[in-house]
Amino acid sequence: MTKPRVFVTRQIPERGLQKVLAACEAVVWAGELPPSKAELARHTSEAEGLLCLLTDPVTEELLEAAGSRLKVISNLAVGYDNIDVAAATRRLIPVGNTPGILTETTADFCFALILACARRLTEGKQAIPAGLWRTWSPQWLLGVDVYQATLGLVGFGRIGQAVARRAAGFNMKVLFCDPNPPSGWEACGVPAEPVSFETLLAESDFVSIHTPLTPETRHLFGAQAFSQMKKTAILINTARGPVVDQEALYQALKGGQILAAGIDVTVPEPLPSDHPLLELDNLIVTPHIASASRATREKMAVMAAENLLAGLRGERLPHCVNPEVYG
Ligand code: GLV
Repeated sequence: MTKPRVFVTRQIPERGLQKVLAACEAVVWAGELPPSKAELARHTSEAEGLLCLLTDPVTEELLEAAGSRLKVISNLAVGYDNIDVAAATRRLIPVGNTPGILTETTADFCFALILACARRLTEGKQAIPAGLWRTWSPQWLLGVDVYQATLGLVGFGRIGQAVARRAAGFNMKVLFCDPNPPSGWEACGVPAEPVSFETLLAESDFVSIHTPLTPETRHLFGAQAFSQMKKTAILINTARGPVVDQEALYQALKGGQILAAGIDVTVPEPLPSDHPLLELDNLIVTPHIASASRATREKMAVMAAENLLAGLRGERLPHCVNPEVYG
């Protein structure tokens, strides 16, 4: 029996890749950088299955060019804003993602940013080679305390709840706002209080973003939101770059409207190495690595492979973001 042809848009961790290679005739993009739009379109149009990354824009145009051969799209990420899901649904193509398995790893990283920003970790690291560590000093590199502070979570899904559980260990008060909190959030294991967005901004010492990118959340954090935050507040973004208006963030950090920020996601990605944001001492930028533990990326690759293979067999994807395609 001939194996189905698939396009895998990057070298993915071994266990996932092996599953794909065992069952499919796979073209695996060998480049370190993503395929160009034209290359993505060419390989996708020859494939029954597409295993892609959040760096691959899967647009209506791409799906139109791919035609009816394409049976499944499997995204190696929990977020899927790179995919025009409505266009896939119109063509009855199921779209898979990798929820759940990266929750704890991402929450760990979010907490790493909270601590690093609060205690000025990167400034301390940079001070030594710069020759600025001349003695122990009672007033040098003073940060803010994390313990007993108030943490405001914007979005209270799996990752937001996992961050809340970590916050409990620091005796923090947790507030959250979420227009559609997942059912059962009350059983998240720690006390958390639902509040309005305005209350969250006004009362939180740390504000952490855990919402998907949608038309409603794009630029949710702009000049107005920053003006409602405490001057001592720290913003953390491990969700998606466009949720924050970066120009407004730059002004808020530079003008002292908020104290500091830690962002793992930017616009664009990668952020150019001469970007003005990188000149700010009170901002830590990391290169979209919140889910990047060896074990978690391996599990994500396996889950993405399982979604792909189920779709090729005509079975329901274990993790499908557009179940409407099943009628
Ligand atoms: C990473 O950003 C993901 O959505 O998995």
